[in-house]
Parts: sequence; C-alpha cells; structure tokens
Amino acid sequence: MNMARQKKRCLIIGDPVEHSLSPRMHNAGYHALAIDDQFLFERQRVSREELRHFIASLRSSTIRGAACTMPHKESLLKFVDYVDPIAARIGAINTLVCEDGLLKGYNTDWLGVVNPLKDKTPLKGKKILILGAGGAARAAIVGLIESGAEVTITNRTADKAIALSQQFAIEVLPWELRSNLQDWDIFVNTTSLGMHPDESETPLPRAKFRAEQIVFETIYFPRETLLLKTARAAGCKTIEGLEMLLHQGLAQFEIFTGHEAPVEAMRIALLHNPD
Ligand code: ATR
Repeated sequence: MNMARQKKRCLIIGDPVEHSLSPRMHNAGYHALAIDDQFLFERQRVSREELRHFIASLRSSTIRGAACTMPHKESLLKFVDYVDPIAARIGAINTLVCEDGLLKGYNTDWLGVVNPLKDKTPLKGKKILILGAGGAARAAIVGLIESGAEVTITNRTADKAIALSQQFAIEVLPWELRSNLQDWDIFVNTTSLGMHPDESETPLPRAKFRAEQIVFETIYFPRETLLLKTARAAGCKTIEGLEMLLHQGLAQFEIFTGHEAPVEAMRIALLHNPD
C-alpha cells in the first residue's frame, strides 16, 4: 500500500509556487515531532483560472488544508464557508482548512509580523511606521492595531495610504517625509524596495536610526537588505523577513496539525535552504 496516500496532505497553492519555502519548513516540523508518518506538505501550482476548480476538488478531497499565496489571498474570501474575523478584517486568507466538508479561511500573516516584534518589545502604545500599502501592509496594520500600537502608514502612491488610513482609522505620513525618523519606535518595511536584484535600494534612504529603534523587514531575498544593514550598523534591533515567513508558518502548522510547532526545527529549515 502506498504510505503517502494514507497521510494527511497539506498544500501550498499559488502561482508561481515552485520556489516556496513552505514545504521545506512544514515537512521539517513534521519530522521534528515524528509525525511525518501522518502528515505530508506539498506545493501545487494553481493559476487564477484554476482556483474555482481547485476549491471544488478540495471540498471532496482528503486534503487537510492549504497555505495560500499570490494571487489567491483576496479571491479566496468568496469561496469559503467560514472566514475568521481577523482574516475578514485584513481582507485576505492565507490558510484554508477543510473540516467535515466545510471550508474555513484564516489569516496568519499578521502573526508573522506581531509575534517576532513581541519577542523584542511590548507593542502597546508603541509608535510604528509602516512603509508600503499592499497586502503585507494590511496584515501588519490589523495585527499591530490589535496589539495596541499607534500605527502610521506611508506609501509612494498616496491614494493607497489614504484609503488604508481611512479604513483602519490610522495616521498617514507623506512619503517624502519618511526619512525623518525621530518620531518612531518601530519601522515595518512592506515595500519591495531592497529586494533582489535591486539590493542597493532602501525605503529609508539617508536614514539616521537611533539604537533604541526596531526595524522589521518583510523581504527575505536577500536575507540582509540594505535597510537591515543600515539599522544594524546604528545599533538597532532588527527582524529579518524570514522570521515573518517562519511565524506565519508556525501558526499554520498548529492549525493544520493541532500540535505546537517546533520553532527551531522549522527556523533551521528556512535558514539552511539550499535553493
Ligand atoms: P504585497 O502585497 O506583497 O505587500 P504589493 O501589493 O505589490 O505587495 O505592494 C508593494 C508595495 O511596495 C507598495 O506599497 C508599493 O508602492 P505603490 O503602492 O506606490 O506601488 C511599494 N513599492 C514598490 N516599488 C516601489 C518603489 N520603487 N518605490 C516606492 N515604493 C515601492
């Protein structure tokens, strides 16, 4: 008998998905808890056009759940039977679970921002500047508001920042004023500035950090962006993008398996990624 068939399968779906680190991270977690005879995590490319068909097949399958990435996070809201309130607030689902034929949608991206920051400092009352206004920014805004922080957003395209500031009742800072750093305890970069291959870019050019400030990066390729290098050189605490990937994955692991996630094994799987 094929052992793989008896296992509970979890997937990452998206397009593209071939470079996703999630299978590596989750399978390392199964191995560390010795549940790799029960669980298996695989990737599956699902295009925009294929999403409806994939969802229909998921309902009648034995698949335990799916992590979801671009371009599906927003579209999934209309396909599920239940949306977790925080996922509804963010407006995106990154985790699907099938239970008794019902499809439930969750979001763990906000935990990917909040949990690594909480490990460094209490967030209540902290003044936080979020750079960027895409999907990662929405997850960060919701998570940080939930944590009692004072959130301000800035974005190159002002209209997007203004829309988010109105939706979530947060402050907005003109993009041109972002490099004036003294007002903030924490910076969260959700822009793509500094991502490979444009590694000489940074969302905070001419930034003069103070050592008490914390800088959170969502980019993980390269691992050390120019923003992180500059912040570290000034003595700031920094959090690299792989930590966000790890922490959203830890929460997914617990939803899929019901087990507490083995943090170190899953972190090592991400850090020692041979691809
Ligand atoms: P995600 O959903 O992953 O958060 P996204 O929706 O593609 O990503 O958002 C990318 C963010 O990077 C946006 O805030 C974008 O700014 P605009 O809204 O002005 O496009 C920001 N960004 C990308 N390239 C940029 C650049 N060259 N300068 C400033 N901001 C940039």
